[in-house]
Amino acid sequence: MNNTNIFIKKMFDAIAPKYDFLNRFLSLGQDIYWRRIMAASVGGVRNLLDVACGTGDVAFEITKLHKNRIKIYGTDFSEEMLRIAQKKKDIMDCNNLFFVAADALLLPFADNRFDAVTIAFGIRNIEDKKRVLKEFIRVLKQGGSVLILELTAPENRFLMELYMLYFKKVLPVIGGLFSKNFQAYKYLPDSVMKFPKALEFVKIMKESGFKRIRVKKLSLGVATLFIGYKN
Ligand SMILES: C[S@@+](CC[C@H](N)C(=O)[O-])C[C@H]1O[C@@H](n2cnc3c(N)ncnc32)[C@H](O)[C@@H]1O
Repeated sequence: MNNTNIFIKKMFDAIAPKYDFLNRFLSLGQDIYWRRIMAASVGGVRNLLDVACGTGDVAFEITKLHKNRIKIYGTDFSEEMLRIAQKKKDIMDCNNLFFVAADALLLPFADNRFDAVTIAFGIRNIEDKKRVLKEFIRVLKQGGSVLILELTAPENRFLMELYMLYFKKVLPVIGGLFSKNFQAYKYLPDSVMKFPKALEFVKIMKESGFKRIRVKKLSLGVATLFIGYKN
């Protein structure tokens, strides 16, 4: 694991106990709505891989919506985030879910294994986007879909200014105070700002081998859902 990944893993290990609460609070509950849209876009698949699953919210949302019909593997390299996912799974008694510790770049699954791969708020943490997208292609069946949900900077100038004010001044303070990890909530806005614009990201998806790419802007572009298919 390189130094950036060690930093990111340690950061998520440290904020894991407060992660769900801060997500709801800092996104004003929007994160639930965004994951719900992603879950509704999954379609009639039978087995799915949720990469960078964190505390498991994408897997739980898909399970709720599709009534345990989809077998889901959730992977993440933060054991502390996975520990919380596992606790939630035990409480909810979902026997279709399996959480496994793994780096997104080295998924411990055979080629052509999954009908769909999802990743929510995870890909911006991964520097080599093409490499991780190619890893998704490897584990996807022919015709399988990838659904990528990510925080994005809005394009409207007025909204962008409000957003920057919130993201740069308010969020790091609240996030830092609650999680006692000021570095993590300074990293969050920086990582969102570094994420490519929608069209640039579509280009990266195409170059990695995905076809028929669709882009859905959510909440005035504060989040974006990208969907693509393996040929
Ligand atoms: C912002 S959280 C998102 C968690 C979850 N998907 C959600 O919707 O709340 C990002 C997650 O990505 C994980 N992550 C970042 N880089 C990773 C990598 N290279 N391999 C595996 N997990 C990674 C972190 O450990 C963290 O749990």
